[in-house]
Amino acid sequence: MLRDESQFRPAMCETSRGEVRANDEDPPDGCTNGGRSFSEWPLPPDDLKLKGNEIHIWATWLDLPGHLISRCSAILTADEEERAGRYYFERDRNRFIAARVCLRALLGAYLKVKSRDIKFSYNQYGKPSLADPANREEINFNLAHSGDLAVYGFTLGRQIGVDVEQIRPEYASFEAAHNYFSPSEVAKFGQLSHGRRQRAFFDCWTRKEAFIKGIGLGLSLGLDQFDVSLAPDERAAVLRTAWDPLAALRWSLVPVEVMPGYVAAVAIEGNDWDLRLWQVPKEVLTEGAIKLM
Ligand SMILES: CC(C)(COP(=O)(O)OP(=O)(O)OC[C@H]1O[C@@H](n2cnc3c(N)ncnc32)[C@H](O)[C@@H]1OP(=O)(O)O)[C@@H](O)C(=O)NCCC(=O)NCCS
Repeated sequence: MLRDESQFRPAMCETSRGEVRANDEDPPDGCTNGGRSFSEWPLPPDDLKLKGNEIHIWATWLDLPGHLISRCSAILTADEEERAGRYYFERDRNRFIAARVCLRALLGAYLKVKSRDIKFSYNQYGKPSLADPANREEINFNLAHSGDLAVYGFTLGRQIGVDVEQIRPEYASFEAAHNYFSPSEVAKFGQLSHGRRQRAFFDCWTRKEAFIKGIGLGLSLGLDQFDVSLAPDERAAVLRTAWDPLAALRWSLVPVEVMPGYVAAVAIEGNDWDLRLWQVPKEVLTEGAIKLM
């Protein structure tokens, strides 16, 4: 059944501001989008489509008022409700619910089906994918949230992993680097001047996390089993994997400047892609739109 696509109507007819191509030269800070916030990303076009090698990245805030959270809850399946119920803090529960309903809304818009009819399956490490007969084009997706901010990535026929982290300076310690990074990453981290370490820490963290999410193995993949770049003057990349000398070449890592105070990275299978950034229109998570999902 067709969903109400009017919620994806752009307030302005601009579709190209968010384009980033794989072979574009990186800006000096190595981040796409020149350090702007996602509120400057374009709104999506009327007829939302993922084409060929396009990668669509979306961002939104998840801070919905209580009455909308109740509306959103009504759309969740029994297993999603059960997962929501496992969160100890109401704030985290509400974020999960909002993020899930937004995911359903975006997938509904791509697939032209009602959001509540979308079915998910999960691999043994928890990576969700579409278990939907409507998914004839093989849409893959991944998402991450940090605080109230959610970032989503969608591709056709290739794997994707997304991570976003709020910068918390106290986390960027040597001890944490030793715990989570590979020996070569720790060595590079140690060579950086003090002032460059904080950003490098979160770049390394989000790139590693995006990669393990792209592959779908989560933390079952040892974090010392692969190296990513982290120095501010190095291009984002998977540099080595312990299991296959060519695996690093088969993946791209893209830093996405999503919001001041946050760091985000996307791992994309392959090197020939065309990345577009969209902001989720505010109307997507309003009472009227949620009722129609
Ligand atoms: C589960 C994990 C994939 C991400 O967890 P996280 O950082 O708590 O959460 P994020 O916001 O990044 O991502 C959550 C989303 O990832 C997706 N996800 C879950 N398991 C996944 C997997 N194996 N692969 C890819 N995506 C997965 C889900 O959609 C989930 O969203 P949902 O719970 O709303 O459905 C896993 O990597 C993890 O536990 N990481 C812990 C953090 C860490 O130690 N990182 C070290 C980096 S150096």
